[in-house]
Amino acid sequence: MVSGQSVAITGAAGGIGRAIAEKCIAAGAKVAISDINEELVNQTAKEIGASPFVCDVADEMAVKAFIEGAEAVNGPIDMFVSNAGVGFSDEPGGHAAGGSNEGWELSWKINTMSNVYASRYLLPQWLERKDADVAGRFVVVASAAGLLAQVNTASYTVTKHGALAFAEYMAIMHKGDNVCVHCICPQYVQTNMTKGMKVITEGPDKHIMPSDVANALFASMEKGEFLVLPHPVIGDYFQAKAANFDRYIGGMSKQLRTAQTPVGLKK
Ligand SMILES: NC(=O)c1ccc[n+]([C@@H]2O[C@H](COP(=O)([O-])OP(=O)(O)OC[C@H]3O[C@@H](n4cnc5c(N)ncnc54)[C@H](O)[C@@H]3O)[C@@H](O)[C@H]2O)c1
Repeated sequence: MVSGQSVAITGAAGGIGRAIAEKCIAAGAKVAISDINEELVNQTAKEIGASPFVCDVADEMAVKAFIEGAEAVNGPIDMFVSNAGVGFSDEPGGHAAGGSNEGWELSWKINTMSNVYASRYLLPQWLERKDADVAGRFVVVASAAGLLAQVNTASYTVTKHGALAFAEYMAIMHKGDNVCVHCICPQYVQTNMTKGMKVITEGPDKHIMPSDVANALFASMEKGEFLVLPHPVIGDYFQAKAANFDRYIGGMSKQLRTAQTPVGLKK
């Protein structure tokens, strides 16, 4: 499906981004990876056979430069994976509005606006080739928090809803132009973001591996599905929420007492 294609992935020095890069390379794609962490992205690129770039996705011009750099190496981008993400906890306030404005603003840029920045430079060229079967493929790595909520971090919850909303909007606007959009909404995945959490090993809510997310993405690409659910149970929770919002809020509120907060959240 991606054999011979030019793929670019943000935040791919490790975790989910790296796993998607490895899966694309195994499927014969030419892959450019970027990250804000220069040392790690260079090392990862060497290990997996990708081209490394340094890119802070909070900076629109850096995203543009990554796209141009990836195209100079691998040709026009066929698939872009907008994966870089951050989370900040509601501390020190300890209530729903306790998170710092700095954390909110960074989350907005990194988790939501980075998707707008990238597609702003990709869509014009994809629209020029809209007669192809697939003009371009845009993948947003959102979160189950974009469909439901992540307790103890309002900024993550809201900006991942924003990421999902933008992906949905882009899919609606450009389905007729043969642009494929996929939005990945996993629950907990074993990466740096969740390092130190008690790992759940059984059941539908279990912590999965980054490679499980990459496999779920490829399965959804095959089926032409927008919503990628590496934990299928999230689809059930989302339907239950739509059917009865009050019951959903009651259930989430009860869960607060036992819910784990990702250890990787910054304060
Ligand atoms: N791990 C989970 O449980 C989980 C669940 C749902 C969604 N996600 C999402 O998956 C994506 C990947 O996260 P991960 O779990 O692999 O964690 P991770 O921490 O391993 O990877 C995130 C990467 O993003 C990079 N990054 C951070 N800020 C950046 C910036 N401004 N510009 C560029 N790169 C930046 C980091 O250096 C890191 O390499 C994120 O968007 C995250 O929100 C993770």
